[in-house]
Amino acid sequence: MDTYESIATKLDIREFSSKSVPTEVKRKVLEAARLTQSGRNLQHWRFILVQRKENLKRLADDSISGKWVARADFAVIVLTNPKYPFHLLDAGRVTQDMELAAWNYGVGSGIYTGFDRRALGRDFGISEELNPSVIIGFGYPMRRIVGKKSRKSLAELAFLEKYGEKLEF
Ligand SMILES: Cc1cc2nc3c(=O)[nH]c(=O)nc-3n(C[C@H](O)[C@H](O)[C@H](O)COP(=O)(O)O)c2cc1C
Repeated sequence: MDTYESIATKLDIREFSSKSVPTEVKRKVLEAARLTQSGRNLQHWRFILVQRKENLKRLADDSISGKWVARADFAVIVLTNPKYPFHLLDAGRVTQDMELAAWNYGVGSGIYTGFDRRALGRDFGISEELNPSVIIGFGYPMRRIVGKKSRKSLAELAFLEKYGEKLEF
């Protein structure tokens, strides 16, 4: 899929079909993560692939704003090191790369950031020095996506040369 088209059509998916995602696609998603750029190329991130049903259920139980992950085919917990001030920027970039890599194969995804840190640490063996920054749930969308993105117009968001100056193409 063309990169722009991929970005333009990607919507957050929270309802997934029961069709399994091939192992090769999961590997590509994690390879996309591995290849992503990070601040000072530190690669301080670590990823936990969660694919067993009982563990997806555990993820959902530990979550506040991502109960839907129980129905995902698999999930990735993105851990970053908070001693680097840019660690959340790295988390965002690696998340987006994984989501777009998956979408290239028709695999949808959604993310959530609300969870019980202690419960997550206990259930998934996460040490204190790593921050669970985001959890991504993946799977084939339950239904064909026809949604339109609800986004502000470019005129509201982008300026020419100076903040507030109108940008016209
Ligand atoms: C930083 C960040 C945090 C988010 N946290 C959650 C969350 O906790 N739970 C959830 O269901 N969605 C979460 N989302 C998903 C957003 O709600 C979603 O990207 C936004 O509504 C746009 O969705 P759309 O592309 O389907 O229009 C989060 C997204 C971002 C970028």
